[in-house]
Amino acid sequence: MATEQNPPKRVTTRTLQTMRDRDEAITMLTAYDYPTAKLLDEAGVDMLLVGDSLAMVVQGHETTLPVTMDQMIYHAEMVGRAAKRAMVVVDLPFPEGQIEINRSIEASARVLKETDCHAVKLEGGAEQAGRIEAIVTAGIPVMAHVGLRPQNIHVDGGYRLQRDTEKLVADAKAAESAGAFAVLIECVPTEVAAAITAAVKVPTIGIGAGRDVSGQVLVTHDIVGLTSGYTPKFTRQFADLGTALKEAATGYCQQVRAGGFPSDQESF
Ligand code: KIV
Repeated sequence: MATEQNPPKRVTTRTLQTMRDRDEAITMLTAYDYPTAKLLDEAGVDMLLVGDSLAMVVQGHETTLPVTMDQMIYHAEMVGRAAKRAMVVVDLPFPEGQIEINRSIEASARVLKETDCHAVKLEGGAEQAGRIEAIVTAGIPVMAHVGLRPQNIHVDGGYRLQRDTEKLVADAKAAESAGAFAVLIECVPTEVAAAITAAVKVPTIGIGAGRDVSGQVLVTHDIVGLTSGYTPKFTRQFADLGTALKEAATGYCQQVRAGGFPSDQESF
C-alpha cells in the first residue's frame, strides 16, 4: 500500500506507452489547485492536466485565450506538488505555442523548473512539428492536441466538430514523428478518432472523440457539476457538488443568522 514513506509509483511516458500497448484505458482529468489535485491523484487518475480551460472554469472568461503563462505556472505549482502518482501535463497558453520557437522552449522549461509537473501540451498538428521537436529535444515531453483547438476559436468561428480525417491523421502522425509522447484528440467523430489511433503508436487521449482511443480526458468542473450554464454534449456529470456547495452555504447562513452557529462545542 502507498504511504508517505512508500509513495506510489509515478506514471511516466513509458507507463502510458505500456498501457496503450496493453490496451489498458488511460484516465486523465483537469486540475487547477492543490486540494482537488490531491483528491484526483488519490482516486487513481493516471494523468492530471493543468488545462488552459482554467481561463473559463476558474477565472470565468468566455474563451481560453486570456490566461497567462505566469498564471499557468501559479496553478501548475500547486497541482504538481499535490500529485504523487499521476503524471501532470501543463497547457502552453496562447500565444506561447504560436510565436517564436525559442519562447515556447523557455515557457516549457519554466514548467519543469518552477513546478513539479512533467510535460507540456501544445495545440496543433503538422504545422507544429518543428516546435514539438525543439521542445522534446530540450528534454521536455510534449503532448500534442489535434482536432478542435480552442485557442483557434476566432479563426474557426466557434467550437466545431472537426471531420477532416486525412488532415487529422496527418497532424497526429507528424506530431508523433516529431517526438510527442501522446496525442489529445478533441471533438471529432468516433470513426475519425479510431483512424487516428490506428495510424499512430503513441497513446491517444480523447475528449468528445468516442471510445476508440487509448484514454479519456474531461474537465473536472464539468464532471462534478461546478460549471455555470453550458456543458458540452461529450461530458457526463458524475456528481453534483454545485448543489452540495450551495446547500452548505445556505445552511451556514441560516445557522449564523439564527444564532445556531457557533455552538458551545465550537467555541473556546
Ligand atoms: O484545457 C483543457 O482543459 C483542455 C481539454 C481539451 C481537456 O485542453
